[in-house]
Amino acid sequence: MRKLFLTLCVVLSFSLKMKADEGMWIPMLLQNNEKEMQEMGMNITVDDIYSINHSSMKDAIVLFDGGCTGEIVSEKGLLLTNHHCGFDWIQYHSTVEHDYLTNGFWAMSQAEELPCPGISAVMLKKMEDVTDRVLEGVTKETSNDERAEIVTENIKKIKEEAENNSDYQVVIKSFYHGNKYYMIYNEVFKDVRLVGAPPSNIGKFGGDTDNWVWPRHTGDFSIFRIYVSPDGKAADYSEDNVPYKPNYHFSISLKGANEGDFTFVFGYPARTNEYLPAVAVNQEANVIYPISVDLRGKILDIYNKYQEKDPKVRIQYASKHAGLGNGWKKWMGVTEGINNFKGIEKKKQFDKDFTDWALKSRQRGAYINLIKDFGKVYEEYEPYRLATTYLSETALQIEILTFAANFNKLSQVTKETPQEEIDKLIANAKEATKVFFKDYHQPIDEEVAAMVLQEYINNQPADFRPELLNTIVEKYADVQSYVDELFAKTMFTSEENVNKFLDEFKPAKAKKLAKDPALMAYNNVMDFYIDNVRSKTIELGNQIADMQRVFMRGQMEYHAERNPEKMMYPDANFTLRVTYGKIGGFSPKDAVTYKHFTTLDGIMQKENPDIYDYVVTDRLRELYEAKDYGRYADKDGSMHVAFIAGNHTTGGNSGSPILNADGHLLGLNFDRTWEGTMSDLIYDPSICRNISVDIRYVLFIVDKYAGASYLVDEMTIVE
Ligand code: ARG
Ligand code: GLU
Repeated sequence: MRKLFLTLCVVLSFSLKMKADEGMWIPMLLQNNEKEMQEMGMNITVDDIYSINHSSMKDAIVLFDGGCTGEIVSEKGLLLTNHHCGFDWIQYHSTVEHDYLTNGFWAMSQAEELPCPGISAVMLKKMEDVTDRVLEGVTKETSNDERAEIVTENIKKIKEEAENNSDYQVVIKSFYHGNKYYMIYNEVFKDVRLVGAPPSNIGKFGGDTDNWVWPRHTGDFSIFRIYVSPDGKAADYSEDNVPYKPNYHFSISLKGANEGDFTFVFGYPARTNEYLPAVAVNQEANVIYPISVDLRGKILDIYNKYQEKDPKVRIQYASKHAGLGNGWKKWMGVTEGINNFKGIEKKKQFDKDFTDWALKSRQRGAYINLIKDFGKVYEEYEPYRLATTYLSETALQIEILTFAANFNKLSQVTKETPQEEIDKLIANAKEATKVFFKDYHQPIDEEVAAMVLQEYINNQPADFRPELLNTIVEKYADVQSYVDELFAKTMFTSEENVNKFLDEFKPAKAKKLAKDPALMAYNNVMDFYIDNVRSKTIELGNQIADMQRVFMRGQMEYHAERNPEKMMYPDANFTLRVTYGKIGGFSPKDAVTYKHFTTLDGIMQKENPDIYDYVVTDRLRELYEAKDYGRYADKDGSMHVAFIAGNHTTGGNSGSPILNADGHLLGLNFDRTWEGTMSDLIYDPSICRNISVDIRYVLFIVDKYAGASYLVDEMTIVE
């Protein structure tokens, strides 16, 4: 009987417990997951994944260039990440003559590898729990404002002390919405060079059309190498630097990704919000995202029109297009996913259960009114969020405005400003000018300007309108006339004029600069934002963060009481995490099921020489027709390209290694399925899947397609 009762409890509690594949776990605390991971098929220990006593897999993972993940795959610091993560650097080195975006790039020796000034690769050395020290001095009676001050002060002190005793960069991050703090020691590599990139029609195959979509056929990888000073330390770029010898590098499995296999993903997820009340999820998914989606869609239409006409413009706007397009499509998926999944209703039910639970005990007093209070504060927050959204998705999308902003300081110099400072401002402005005009196409900007300003005027109520908008409405026949005048009068549309101005700059000219209509327009909208939106946004944001901290603590207590076994993972915050799940397809809707992998056949089926996203090179077709896949073929004889699994990933996990039960590299994570992008807010194991490029396809491209087999020779291959 007792046994039956226990079994019943387990069954009941299991339905409460998060599904195995939900969760982004802190590697240092992975002991708690070890049993489950091994039950799911893992053959290694969590100590192999993260240890500070001996080399472990964490020594081969980096935060790549501030936004993605990269992994080391050779003794000589060879680094893999996604094509879209290396994209800016591939573009940086590309010109119309050397178009690495279109044709790919392969360094055939270390001497040919390309330095990337300003790039970074950050490697976690160790982390420790500093919660008690950060919260020292905080009591039950401490007000939120006082608490914030104490926490900031303590963090500063602890960080300084740690930095004085260490060569590493130190960061302290809040976890569980301010309920826990961890200190992280990082090594920051700055000499990272571009080694290889496939042509875009492989690395970005399917482009923005297939972005976020399964089935997928993108060879989304690029290759870099970390260099260090001759004595082995992270250092700025120097010709004398040598390839980094890591403590660990991943072995690569050619065994493939098979249905039901255990996998884990190790990397740097950026941001999730799994513990929000219904009202917050609703605001995000049903108010803010639809507006951004609509505005970005209109801008992208304009980009497309010009990009299709002119190959130069296509390159110039490639990165801008990808950047805007990515959020545009993802947010569409979030809204759709949440609504199909009845996510708001489910959150509302939880909010109600939580409040009912709070009402049952005196000790839970802090939680009783939380949900009601969230409702009030999010209502107050909404117009400010809309104001910020409109500003950033309209006025700040006008390129000459944000370019002009680089000249703000220069427009404020006086006779008293030291010449040295002026020289520095001029040098900065010159650099910004060079970068800007490399990728600027004025007709696009003019058309975008007219469109976004009209949207801004139409959609913001009087008290949220910068003066500029009122001026346009009152003093101009229409928005177009204002835009025509703006582009006719500003100097910021002409590289020649801007450079001439900078060459001849004297403090006496600062006033004239300040009167440039583009700079004035920028300052007008920004000043409005600063005076009328920003401080209230911060104030309400802080209020929400304080409430969320309490709500998070409450949710942890709620679950701990009902189901002590349930572990709760902290929301993603750009720190190193492990997530695990099994390889497998899914059913996005009635009568439709997806297999877990795609092949080169699919690339040939999608091929269309007239559609940029689906062009296939002759070389790839030849290899396909000859079935010349070498040892990279699957046992079924075909060339597998991508696969999906139930790993809980998010932005920042791009480039993360997806590893098998032995910890060998199976592929590179690069995306999620459109149907499951809501997993940043609510995870649904039945439809949330991460998408990875199969490492065998990566090696096939490097080796067979590009002939850079010396790179494969450097790697450790497990056949
Ligand atoms: N959706 C992926 C991510 O969030 C890939 C983005 C790059 N690819 C693209 N086609 N825009 O970063
Ligand atoms: N492509 C994303 C990135 O850049 C990963 C996809 C996701 O959001 O899961 O990190």
